[in-house]
Amino acid sequence: MSGPRIEALLSQMTLSEKIGQLVMLAAGFSVTGPIIGGDASGAVREGRAGSLLNVFGPGAVRDIQRVAIEQSRLKIPLILGFDVVHGHRTVFPVPLGEAAAFDPTLWEQTARASAREAAADGVALTFAPMLDVSRDPRWGRVVEGAGEDAFVQSLFGAAKVRGFEGESLGESGTVAATVKHFVAYGAASAGRDYASTDMSERTLRETYLPPFQAAIAAGCAAVMPAFSDLSGVPMTANGPLLDGWLRGEAGFRGVVISDYNAVAELVAHGVATDLAEAAALALRAGVDIDMMSGAYEQGLPLALQRGLVTLGEIEASVRRVLELKERLGLFDDPMRGLGADGAAPLMAAHRELAREAARRSAVLLRNRGDILPLSERPQRIALIGPLADAPTDMMGSWSGAGEARDSVTVLDGLRAARPDCDIGHARGVGVDEADESGPDAALALAREADLVILAIGEARDMSGEAASRTGLDLPGDQANFARAVLDLGRPTVVLLSSGRPLAVPWLFERAGAVLATWFLGSEAGHAVADLLTGRASPSGRLPITWPRSVGQVPIFFGERPSGRPASDGHYTSKYIDLPTTPLFAFGYGLTYGRVSYSALGVEPPRPRRGDTITVAVDLFNDGEHPAEETVFLFIRKPVARVARPLLELKGFSRLSLAPGERARTVMALPVSALAFPGPDLRPAVEPGDYEILVGPSADRAQLLRQVVHVEEGGA
Ligand code: NOJ
Repeated sequence: MSGPRIEALLSQMTLSEKIGQLVMLAAGFSVTGPIIGGDASGAVREGRAGSLLNVFGPGAVRDIQRVAIEQSRLKIPLILGFDVVHGHRTVFPVPLGEAAAFDPTLWEQTARASAREAAADGVALTFAPMLDVSRDPRWGRVVEGAGEDAFVQSLFGAAKVRGFEGESLGESGTVAATVKHFVAYGAASAGRDYASTDMSERTLRETYLPPFQAAIAAGCAAVMPAFSDLSGVPMTANGPLLDGWLRGEAGFRGVVISDYNAVAELVAHGVATDLAEAAALALRAGVDIDMMSGAYEQGLPLALQRGLVTLGEIEASVRRVLELKERLGLFDDPMRGLGADGAAPLMAAHRELAREAARRSAVLLRNRGDILPLSERPQRIALIGPLADAPTDMMGSWSGAGEARDSVTVLDGLRAARPDCDIGHARGVGVDEADESGPDAALALAREADLVILAIGEARDMSGEAASRTGLDLPGDQANFARAVLDLGRPTVVLLSSGRPLAVPWLFERAGAVLATWFLGSEAGHAVADLLTGRASPSGRLPITWPRSVGQVPIFFGERPSGRPASDGHYTSKYIDLPTTPLFAFGYGLTYGRVSYSALGVEPPRPRRGDTITVAVDLFNDGEHPAEETVFLFIRKPVARVARPLLELKGFSRLSLAPGERARTVMALPVSALAFPGPDLRPAVEPGDYEILVGPSADRAQLLRQVVHVEEGGA
């Protein structure tokens, strides 16, 4: 329900001013700095734009907001939006990396810090978090989400929304969250960005919708439909899902903002003949704001004349936009706590959090013969490879207002941590091209070194939007370079940076240690040094299954059983040239301790609906170093009216164990969490047996198992 201020405004607005509130224009391009395009300020003055994207920083924000509140007829403030995906000025790890921390508190804290910085720079709304479950690492945007699992993505999304929005958008240091890309964008055919998606309603309801449901429950202010179509209906025009599911079933009360140019693209999708039809389809489906396509401005007046939309439908969207402006406090304080010096003064306070987040996002995938942590003796280290001293790449894709000069590279971090060591550096090879100096200097350094640290992988623009790949290998000449380094036979630690799992089994077979470092952000180098030196024990776990080969994709732990499970037999569900198992299971990740699991206890054995099952397990660190363990709680319903996945994640917990320490961890599993969509697609808890499986990853061989029997009846 809108208030008197909004109704008073609406009653004074011309049609063009109403449509203007539904238009979002780009104010410039963030990479070149906050530039106000002349066109945007003219449109703002004339009331033809109600929001802008890609403008931030005190000077630019004050100037453009003044145009709106001093020079436009109705003096309505603008919403300024920006992609604050994993940090604003301080860059935190890319979302796929941060997901590896399996810690909603951390996820919320980094969003809160990002919101504080963004708000101080005049940003009122972020186009984040991205909640696209993705099981296809070819898709470049897999880096922007929390991986393959709906449960993790739901917790991640809710934590991010809480972090961005705080208790209320009226508080200082908050920004409105826009969850995206609604829905199923991560299931793009063949992993190609913007491609068509198609799936059953069951998969949609079980896997792709729940993260959005969780974000709505957490209070997200806005939703962005995906560029893609679902079974032939582009999401930007998908009334049944936007209006039906989102606003109807899920009870979303906020604003729907199209993706960039997506309304006009309805013509290219083949569902509209011109901008008037495109605008009408989007508006009637539930899209309130047209980002940058011009379709609302040019097409809605025509659509109104042709009877394709009603004034009431336009006004309903205008109300929602004005309500968001009111919630943001913009009518009372259009500058919304814009700092005199913007975000810069806040950065120092966020460095330690960035370091902690980076440390906890890296995943140790191999550590042969405990080559890590580094020996405490001074030694000669060759730090080589194209990503050893790469401040821009460390920031990853969508690095907001981050600046490379604020990144600590691995070279900086390691030299600071180990001044006693002789650390030589050479690139050897570029990420995707030869290095001018050639590999010889790097190979010579490696040959003479006590230890080689090889920093290789993808450049930051090889994942993210429009960065799908058909191969999951090392780009350029890096594989040859890495092989030449490994052929030297020196103890070698690989730091593997990427926005997706890279299917390079040979590297894992040959290297002494491999640390997946994704893109760890501003504090990457210090964090990596903390882990290499043993100042901290690695604790990240894979939020996505790591394939052996691109041919196994999509590969994920929640697959359904086959009637012919893979075995040595011929007619079974397998490949004739590779195992069906991944290189590393979801949840996999080493720590410097050595943790064993025992004594799984599950109570009560015969729970009823309304009960909570208690799941407890003993952990023992019999290693020589502290351990940071993440314990996963899966279930499986072996027999149901609809075949259930081989594993479903229902919980996780983390604990630290000193060398020789034992501890028991206890997790609560409400029986209601066992519900799944039945044959009628309505969620219900089916009575019967459920396996409860607990362990360090989704590798079944590592899981302890008990069975509970859920009784008929109960609350
Ligand atoms: C296109 C991307 O798909 C979306 O995620 C982003 O928020 C917008 N551009 C705005 O930059």
